[in-house]
Amino acid sequence: MASIFVTFNPKGFSEQGLELLKKSKHTVTVYPKVTGISRKELLAKSKGMDAVLPLLTEKIDEEFFTAVGPQLKIVANYAVGFDNVDLPAAKQHNVVVTNTPHDKVNEAVAEHAFALMLALARHIPEADQYAKAEKYKGWDPTLMLGTDLAGKTLGIIGAGRIGAAVAQRAVNGFGMKLVYSDMHRNADLEKAFNAKQLSMEKLLETSDFISLHVPLLPSTKHLISTDEFSLMKKTAFLVNTSRGPVVDEKALLRALKTKRIAGVGLDVFECEPAIDCDIRDNLELKKFPNAILTPHIGSATIEAREAMGTVAAQNILAVLSGKLPLTPAK
Ligand code: DGY
Repeated sequence: MASIFVTFNPKGFSEQGLELLKKSKHTVTVYPKVTGISRKELLAKSKGMDAVLPLLTEKIDEEFFTAVGPQLKIVANYAVGFDNVDLPAAKQHNVVVTNTPHDKVNEAVAEHAFALMLALARHIPEADQYAKAEKYKGWDPTLMLGTDLAGKTLGIIGAGRIGAAVAQRAVNGFGMKLVYSDMHRNADLEKAFNAKQLSMEKLLETSDFISLHVPLLPSTKHLISTDEFSLMKKTAFLVNTSRGPVVDEKALLRALKTKRIAGVGLDVFECEPAIDCDIRDNLELKKFPNAILTPHIGSATIEAREAMGTVAAQNILAVLSGKLPLTPAK
């Protein structure tokens, strides 16, 4: 019998995974709140555990592994991204790290990327505020004039699982043309959606919409910065549902101020949960109607959350019974 610590209370959004754990022979301890475990509590409550199921907001580093102890076998991160986990430290401590890739997560994030693209293209937040402020006094053919997605070129940076889900919606749902940039060629994407692989530069120059789907790595930090903005069309919209630091927010603010691009949709921020980390007091991004901001809710559907909890639980049960994890973080 092993001991498992879940660092958040999944009641109402991720209960199936918890049920799987509770039905096993292992002892399960659940933190009583959904969020808000302090660092001190995380280290103290994880101590002596064989498995820990943390959120992406918890830093899983050398200090964590040392505090928990040598019996720890698995950290099952409740997220697709695992930039909160120090993988080399995990390896040193012989701890398996897993993440939660799943079709339901791909679909949720892809739909959110489109929610942002459509909101930008059709001025949805502005239009909503306008109507609610009772400013609508009569039909006007120039009111909130936007742009079609149909026939436009979508550039996907990072053609993995989520990128592919975005591609499918772009081509089959919205009749967009597709280009992508990735270290690897994605022959399936090319075949299924007539997608063209381009260099980053070419993609930035030719895309009307650009959607980011790369993991956060040293090589992807500030992947989109001043030079990249300077290559984009002035009419281009950028959407980021990956990780905040992939976009250099200072460069983004300059691009918005100088109208270098038409708009941005951000679900993630450089110093989350703060919006505008370098200029915290000004909250500059908030001033731009063509910057649509959502609080890291890309995968926030009940379907995706259930899937994430189930995958995390299955990984824990596999590793605790000496099997290979289903979805190792790599
Ligand atoms: C992920 O899974 O990485 C999302 O960003 C959080 O749910």
